[in-house]
Amino acid sequence: MQRLAGKIAIITGASAGIGKASAKLFASEGAVLGLIDINDADGEMLAGKINASGGTARYVRADVSVAAELETAIETLAAEFGGIDVLYNNAGGATPRDDHLLNMPLDEFDRAIGLNLFGPFAGCRFAIPHMQKRGGGSIINTASIRAMIGTSGADGYTAAKGGIVTLTRALALQCADKGIRVNAIAPGAVLTERVKALMAQGNDSGPDEKMMQRHLLGAGEPEQVAPVALFFASDDSRWVTGQILPVDGGASAC
Ligand SMILES: NC(=O)c1ccc[n+]([C@@H]2O[C@H](COP(=O)([O-])OP(=O)(O)OC[C@H]3O[C@@H](n4cnc5c(N)ncnc54)[C@H](O)[C@@H]3O)[C@@H](O)[C@H]2O)c1
Repeated sequence: MQRLAGKIAIITGASAGIGKASAKLFASEGAVLGLIDINDADGEMLAGKINASGGTARYVRADVSVAAELETAIETLAAEFGGIDVLYNNAGGATPRDDHLLNMPLDEFDRAIGLNLFGPFAGCRFAIPHMQKRGGGSIINTASIRAMIGTSGADGYTAAKGGIVTLTRALALQCADKGIRVNAIAPGAVLTERVKALMAQGNDSGPDEKMMQRHLLGAGEPEQVAPVALFFASDDSRWVTGQILPVDGGASAC
């Protein structure tokens, strides 16, 4: 039995990294997939591969920090597939401009909040009415180890991810009676291409040596986060809501 058979799932930031690994896994578990990103070439290629291997996926471009774009993408996908059961708010990340608050350009704060907090906030707003029509659903937000322990070097991003933790709990409370569960994954250092590039530059917005040493099980791969997203998307987690699950090789335990 495929664990997402009959479910319509939207993943933001699906063209690369954790989102891409999750899209592949969700497709193999029977989900009908709406893929949202700003990297059109890789998003279209991923949708094409999923469709060619017998799955169903459609890529729609939207910058999640622009409400009108995200709303149009979500409405387009909901209309095409007949609703939404799962929203995985995965798009996010820190840029090399993010830094200690005394050093970073102040406008980087707005960018970090727009991508990492407003995007998921708006995504929930646009998807929840569709979930209600289907009698329930599952929202998966993306926090970070930076929201679970004290870190420095990406202070705009860190503030945004802290907001995700409290937003997740607040929405869980408000959505439980609608049959909608809201949880968040808090990844540790996952070696996506973006993170590898930050580390190669020695940029403070990527994990430093001290942070890497905290990962009791070593650095992560996108394919180690995707099964946790699958758990939250599937009915296996039907009695779980309002939780922030660190998926970090033990880094937040030290
Ligand atoms: N990789 C890590 O170490 C790590 C650690 C903690 C948290 N996270 C979080 O996990 C999530 C995925 O991270 P990743 O490392 O896989 O990222 P990634 O950079 O590998 O992939 C992110 C995807 O999001 C897309 N994207 C970027 N900005 C966008 C926008 N404005 N609108 C729509 N799409 C956009 C990118 O094009 C890309 O395809 C992010 O929310 C990130 O903050 C990652």
